[in-house]
Amino acid sequence: MTTDALMDSTDKLLGDGSPVRATDDTPTEAIETSTSIPYGRQSIDDGDIAAVVAVLRGDWLTQGPAIEQFENSLATKVQARYAVAFANGTAALHAAMVAGGIGHNHSVVTSPLSFAASANCARYVGADPVFVDIDPDTLNLDISAVGRADALVAVHYAGLPVDLAAMRVRPRVVVEDAAHALGAATPDGPVGNCAHSDMCVFSFHPVKTITTGEGGAVTTNDAALAERLRTFRTHGIVRKPEQGGWYYEIEELGYNYRITDLQAALGTSQLQRLGSFVAMRNALARRYHQLLDGIDGVTLPPIAPEGTTHAYHLFPVRVRNRRAVYDAMRAANIGVQVHYVPIYRHPIYADLHCSPAEYPETERAYEGLLSLPMFPALTKNDQDRVVSVLLDALRA
Ligand SMILES: Cc1ncc(COP(=O)(O)O)c(C=O)c1O
Repeated sequence: MTTDALMDSTDKLLGDGSPVRATDDTPTEAIETSTSIPYGRQSIDDGDIAAVVAVLRGDWLTQGPAIEQFENSLATKVQARYAVAFANGTAALHAAMVAGGIGHNHSVVTSPLSFAASANCARYVGADPVFVDIDPDTLNLDISAVGRADALVAVHYAGLPVDLAAMRVRPRVVVEDAAHALGAATPDGPVGNCAHSDMCVFSFHPVKTITTGEGGAVTTNDAALAERLRTFRTHGIVRKPEQGGWYYEIEELGYNYRITDLQAALGTSQLQRLGSFVAMRNALARRYHQLLDGIDGVTLPPIAPEGTTHAYHLFPVRVRNRRAVYDAMRAANIGVQVHYVPIYRHPIYADLHCSPAEYPETERAYEGLLSLPMFPALTKNDQDRVVSVLLDALRA
């Protein structure tokens, strides 16, 4: 593996190198100590490759049957009535805002400890993001602090579900940002079943639980929302066959946010291994906890309460002297990452005049956050090397 694989989606958005490399599930026990270990990585097997090749040999590369098949498989897996697939998770969040009727001057509450897309989706529709500080015990937004708002974008940070059942005031539209949380579950069922929300958004970027290359989806139990999501995904086109087989009208501005059949076929194939991917991530998390428990200078991430399944998209520890530890681990070819720079710190949100002092828990977490490598094909040898380099860096 080259240092390309150290990149994450943020690096790529910055145009900082070549794409994430394809790989397989072959264990790499004999890994060299100088080999790069990324923080996240897809797992592609022969079944995935065959599924994509079958689409390539067929008639439909896009807008064909593989998309509906993927949507049906996803809806079944997360126990939702509908799933609508998108080109990526950001497009899916944008669509959820539009379908929920969120627009100009509406307030959209979200967590500042997330990827910017969780707030940008509000801006796309002219709404105002409102950040609520995180709960230090979960690193999710403090659900008890959510008040009246037009919408909530509840981010399941790192894959640990926000306890939406504890919501005191329900914003008009509740959207789960489950980009990290496919495969997670609460006592109310799988994340995605919308037990306490209107819509749930997933991302299928290569570092996520399953991948379609780029891709996303919204699940919902509401037929009208599903219809609006589908219309928005294809330019706002509404077909009116009673006026002729060719006839359609565009009633509201939509986009081309479609996923391709190639991607959808990969998604359906990957979904079959969702359970084992999440189990492997949980096994790695337990081992990190064993290896790092009680180490001075390291705070371990929260564990899921009884009855909740963590998807462990990320394993974000908090370390003393983060900058030096980050540099030392990167120098040793360990692809650590920081998730995230609090969203209000980005210059595009300067007009909100959010002061870091208003978000003491987010700031305290951000000071030490460091995501350690976490992906199903990470071997024990890899994990031992990550821990040993981390311990050396802490001692330096
Ligand atoms: C919390 C969160 N929301 C939304 C997204 C956007 O997903 P995508 O990269 O598929 O557009 C990401 C991507 O990393 C994310 O981490």
